[in-house]
Amino acid sequence: MEKLPPLLAPSLLACDFARIGEKIKILESAGVPWLHLDVMDGAFVPNISFGQPLIKSIRKATDMFFDVHLMINEPGRYLADFAGCGADLICIHAEASGDIAADLAAIKALGVKCGLAIKPKTPAEAVLPHLKVLDLVLVMSVEPGFGGQKFMPEVLPKISALRDAREREGLAFHIEVDGGIGPENAALVYAAGADVLVAGSSVLGKDDPAAAAKAIYDSLK
Ligand code: DX5
Ligand code: ZN
Repeated sequence: MEKLPPLLAPSLLACDFARIGEKIKILESAGVPWLHLDVMDGAFVPNISFGQPLIKSIRKATDMFFDVHLMINEPGRYLADFAGCGADLICIHAEASGDIAADLAAIKALGVKCGLAIKPKTPAEAVLPHLKVLDLVLVMSVEPGFGGQKFMPEVLPKISALRDAREREGLAFHIEVDGGIGPENAALVYAAGADVLVAGSSVLGKDDPAAAAKAIYDSLK
């Protein structure tokens, strides 16, 4: 299968929350397609970020694709809520769900695309039984919970293994990489097989997020 075109998904976590509306407009005008929304519960990960009210209110401000990354325990409790807030894709963690197949089916039944995320030490085998129903597999390249951490290159073989499994099974799910991505390593993860690149500090953490997004796309040429 041919390589999927790269998609940039800036993470809102790195944004100055007093200027969210303005920053989203800048990204949207620059043609950035996805917005990555990191929801943290203070239990699955040792940090709390934001939840439904914020997503619902920014939904009114943009048509960008909302890629909601749920870093919460027992995500099944909140799937309908996040779908109702305007998520286009809901990604749950394999390590956080008591019944992955049921949670993925519930996301689909809500008319939303579904994703399954794995932490750096979780093997690709955790997602393999679910590939046929998945729209996206998220490979964490830092321990989830915080922005601004260093990319872990040891996840690269896992990205390639998933790319190979996709090819072998004739599937078309996205492979997303999340954590420590910037213009210095975007080409590396894209070559390994990731097509959705999450970038927090390296885009919305910069003064000029449009230029920062362009620098990442340029690094892939
Ligand atoms: C971490 C989050 C990431 C984070 C990425 O738990 O899932 O999406 O915002 O931030 P950077 O790009 O700064 O590592
Ligand atoms: Zn994330």
